[in-house]
Amino acid sequence: MDTCTVLLILQASLVLSLADGAAPVLRFVAVGDWGGVPNPPFYTARETATAKEIARTVQVLGTDFILSLGDNFYYEGVKSADDKRFQETFEDVFSAASLRKVPWYVLAGNHDHLGNVSAQIAYSSISKRWNFPSPFYRLRFKVPRSNASVAIFMLDTVTLCGNSDDFSSQQPERPRDAAVARTQLSWLKKQLAAAKEDYVLVAGHYPIWSIAEHGPTRCLVKQLLPLLAQHKVTAYLCGHDHNLQYLQDENGIGFVLSGAGNFMDPSKKHMHKVPNGYLRFHHGDSNSMGGFAYVEISPKEMSITYIQASGKSLFKTRLPRRARHARPRGLHPRA
Ligand SMILES: *[C@@H]1O[C@H](CO)[C@@H](O)[C@H](O)[C@H]1NC(C)=O
Ligand SMILES: *[C@@H]1O[C@H](CO)[C@@H](O)[C@H](O)[C@H]1NC(C)=O
Repeated sequence: MDTCTVLLILQASLVLSLADGAAPVLRFVAVGDWGGVPNPPFYTARETATAKEIARTVQVLGTDFILSLGDNFYYEGVKSADDKRFQETFEDVFSAASLRKVPWYVLAGNHDHLGNVSAQIAYSSISKRWNFPSPFYRLRFKVPRSNASVAIFMLDTVTLCGNSDDFSSQQPERPRDAAVARTQLSWLKKQLAAAKEDYVLVAGHYPIWSIAEHGPTRCLVKQLLPLLAQHKVTAYLCGHDHNLQYLQDENGIGFVLSGAGNFMDPSKKHMHKVPNGYLRFHHGDSNSMGGFAYVEISPKEMSITYIQASGKSLFKTRLPRRARHARPRGLHPRA
C-alpha cells in the first residue's frame, strides 16, 4: 500500500465516523413561536415548512434535542393536558420519522400563559418527547466523547416580567405575582454563580435585544442582562418577535432570536432601541416560509447557523468556550 492509499482509507474512515455521529459535538435546534392557530387545520403553512426542514436537519446533520422557545399554542395556549391541540399543532406537524425520538425541552411564552401552562407541564407524562418539568429549570449536557459541559437555564420570562398582552404598550411592565418573579430571579442568580460548565446558555421567550415589532424587553435589559454579563454567560436564546436575529454585545454575549416557526414579520420598528453595532443578522422576509437556529457545541466553540425553511443556510457565527473556572467580572481579581 502506498501512502496515498493509506491516506484515502484514513479519510474514508474519518468521513464514516463523522457520519455516524462520532464527532465530539452536541447539536440542537432552537425554535420559537411555532404554535399553529386555534381553528382548523390548527397549523400554518410556515409551521409545516419549518417542521419539515427541522426533520431534514435532524436526519442529515444529527440533533440531540430541540429547544422550544415558547408560544407553543396560539392564541390562548391549551386548556388541559388532554387538549386536542397537542395532537393537532404538535404531534401531527412534527411527525416525520427522524423526529420521533428527539426530545423537546419546552418553556412557556405569553400566549401559553393565556391558557393553562400547568397542562403543558402535565403533558410531559403523556408524550414521550415533550419535556417541560416545571416553569423554570436547568438542563445539563456533556459534549459526547469529550469532557466539555453545557448548562442551559430555561426561564419563564412571563412570570418574571408580566404578560405583554396586559399592557397597551405590549411591553411586559410588571409581573402578576412579585413573589413568584423574585423566587425565579434568585434561583437563577444562585445557579449562575455556581455554574462551572464550559458553555452556559439562558433561554426565555421574551428577547433582551430585538430590532423588530416588540423590540427589547425593558424588564429583561434591567434585571437579566447584568446577570448574564456578570457570570459570563455564552448566549441568550429567545423568540417572541416573528423573525430570525443574531445580536452580540461588547461583552461577547450572543443573542439568538428564533421566533419564525409559524409567522414571519418584516418589521424593524425598534432598530433605534438596540445599541449601535449589536445587530449582526436579521431575516424577516415576508416571502420566507420561516426558519430556526441550529446550534453545534464542540469542546472548542459553539456555532450557530440560521436555517430557512427552504433549506438555505442564511448566517453562521461562532462563540468561544468560557474560560475554565470563569469568575464573575469585577470579583476576585487574579493575583
Ligand atoms: C389545567 O390543566 C390541568 C392538567 O390537565 C388540570 O388538572 C387543571 O384543572 C387545569 N386548570 C384549569 C384552570 O383548567
Ligand atoms: C476527560 O477527563 C478525564 C479525567 O481528567 C481524562 O482521563 C480523559 O482523557 C478526558 N477525556 C477527554 C475525551 O478529553
